[in-house]
This record gives sequence, structure tokens and C-alpha cells, in this order.
Amino acid sequence: MPSSLCAKWLADAWDQNPAMFVMSPIGAKMEEVCEKWLAELLHLPQGTAAGFVSGSSTAINCALLAGRNYLLKNLGYNVSASGLNNAPKLKVAVSEGAHSTVFKALSIIGLGQDNLIKVPMDEQGRIRSDMIPPLDNGTLLILQAGNVNSGAFDDFKSICRKASEAGAWVHVDGAFGLWAAACDELAYLTEGMEYADSWSMDAHKTLNAPYDNGIVLCRHRGS
Ligand SMILES: Cc1ncc(COP(=O)(O)O)c(C=O)c1O
Repeated sequence: MPSSLCAKWLADAWDQNPAMFVMSPIGAKMEEVCEKWLAELLHLPQGTAAGFVSGSSTAINCALLAGRNYLLKNLGYNVSASGLNNAPKLKVAVSEGAHSTVFKALSIIGLGQDNLIKVPMDEQGRIRSDMIPPLDNGTLLILQAGNVNSGAFDDFKSICRKASEAGAWVHVDGAFGLWAAACDELAYLTEGMEYADSWSMDAHKTLNAPYDNGIVLCRHRGS
């Protein structure tokens, strides 16, 4: 598309410079505009924050870090100041069908791999909502919009609102699938995911953008 070619030229020319507002006010402004467009397109809560990163793996890292810090803060613990050594234990529930990068991210951010609660999946790779453990304000729950093998979406409608009421942090890995929310015929697949706390996706898969990029979205702007 001529428009995507022009966008690529602009990105090639500007990419080095828009790290900060002072370096490229227009770059910063364009991020703000894209942030608003994304929240609208995906039917996410007004005021959702977006960060533009190098791919879905990095977006997942950022989102889970935000979730970890938020939960610990609510438990009265400042992990940035005190580190993880004496932090309260978080419960991490993740589908056994989650993408490998989710497990890697949990390892990178210090939540490990051995202590996770791996929730069984159904034959399509959807998390079994009846097997999710009790949730509370010390729980990180990771769901998926688009299983990489089957394309299946977790049942956000029955999970997200309940999880949010329990005070858990819900992250949705939607590397390629989150875009379904922007499409009238497919939006039903993502119904209920607007109650989650963070989402990750990218534009180099479904949108076929010709360079690696990722997007992390977060309901809690300060996190
Ligand atoms: C569901 C899912 N999550 C995360 C990723 C990681 O994406 P990236 O390669 O952009 O880091 C992928 C990649 O295939 C994926 O399919």
C-alpha cells in the first residue's frame, strides 16, 4: 500500500530521533495519537497507556513487570526500592498453552518457572476457566488472544471481570490475535478482555508491518 510505504520511509528517517519529546516533539505527539487510536480501535478503557517496543516478547516483559510491581505495591511492598529477595510471594497462574515467550518473561522478571500454577488447556489450547485457581490481589493471571497453533481465544468473558473484581492483575498476550477486537466480524472473540489490566501485541504479524515492533498497553498509566 502506498500509505504503508510512506509510513516506512518516515519511520526509517525519524526512528533514531524520537526517543524523547525534546528530541522530536512530532515523534512524541504521534505516539500520543497512536496510543489513543489503539485504545479506540481495540475498545480498551479510555486513558489506556501504550508503549512502543521491539516485539511482543518485550511487550510481555514490560506488562508482566508492571503487573508484578503493581501487585507488590498493593501488598505494601516497594520492589524498586527493596528488591525481590524479601518480597511477598505472588501467585502466578498461566495456561499450559501459553506462548514460550510468556514463560521466558516470567523467568526474566524474577518470578521463575517452577512455582507457576500451570492451568490445563482444552483441545484448542484455550485455558480451562473451570481450573483457574482462586484469585486475589496477589495473583498474576496470564491469558491469550490467539493461540499460536490453533488461533483459539481464551474465554475472556467468563474470566476477566471476575478476576478484576478479585483484585488480580490480568495480562492478555495478543501478539497477533488482539487485532480481532478492531474487526467487526471477529470482535466477539475478544469480548470481556477490556476488563484486563495489560495487553501485548505487535504489528509485524497480523498487520505485516515490514519491521519488528511491539505494543504494550496498560490500564494503569502510573504502573
Ligand atoms: C502468541 C504469541 N505471543 C508472543 C509471541 C512473541 O512475539 P515476538 O516474536 O514479536 O517477540 C508470539 C510469536 O509468535 C506469539 O505467537
